[in-house]
Amino acid sequence: MHDKSFEPYLTAVQIDQAIQKLADQINNDYSGKRPLFISVLNGSFMFASDLFKKLTIESEICFIKLASYKGTKSTGHVITAIGLDIDLIHRHVIVIEDIVDTGKTLHRFLPKLFHQQPHSLKIATLLHKSEATEYPLKLDYIGFDIPNKFVVGYGLDYDGLGRNLKEIYQLV
Ligand code: XMP
Ligand code: MG
Repeated sequence: MHDKSFEPYLTAVQIDQAIQKLADQINNDYSGKRPLFISVLNGSFMFASDLFKKLTIESEICFIKLASYKGTKSTGHVITAIGLDIDLIHRHVIVIEDIVDTGKTLHRFLPKLFHQQPHSLKIATLLHKSEATEYPLKLDYIGFDIPNKFVVGYGLDYDGLGRNLKEIYQLV
């Protein structure tokens, strides 16, 4: 892909089984609570779709994009959510991410969600590079803990390519 070589890492069956486990836990934990899922685009679209199909409880979903820009003041980078048009107050919110690497993105973004006073706020991520953690986060639902190597497929891209792959591949 582009200039780099990737090798198979997680099969479609492994991914499906891991997502079923997460869905089972969520179905159990949120029974009667009607959670609101917030899927962080682009990478999480496939995971969000497959996870959502496996939910048997009443639930809602919305999709956002995170945009990072340099603050006009001295505060450095600021992250805003584009497309977050649902009020979070008193809601049980679950953020859906494709991958948590250093944790920086969510570390910066979660305070914005807390600010809206959700009843509860949890994170579901398909992949977690726990070795790469720089910004500690409590991850509530994790599909796979993976080594600190670049991965593509199943929604994740390398420079725009690879999102359509049913499996996940690791940089050789
Ligand atoms: P942080 O470090 O903020 O990173 O937790 C999260 C974002 O970085 C991207 N990312 C990857 N994308 N393969 C990808 O295709 C990877 O191995 C990878 N590691 C990090 C991703 O956009 C994620 O949301
Ligand atoms: Mg992402």
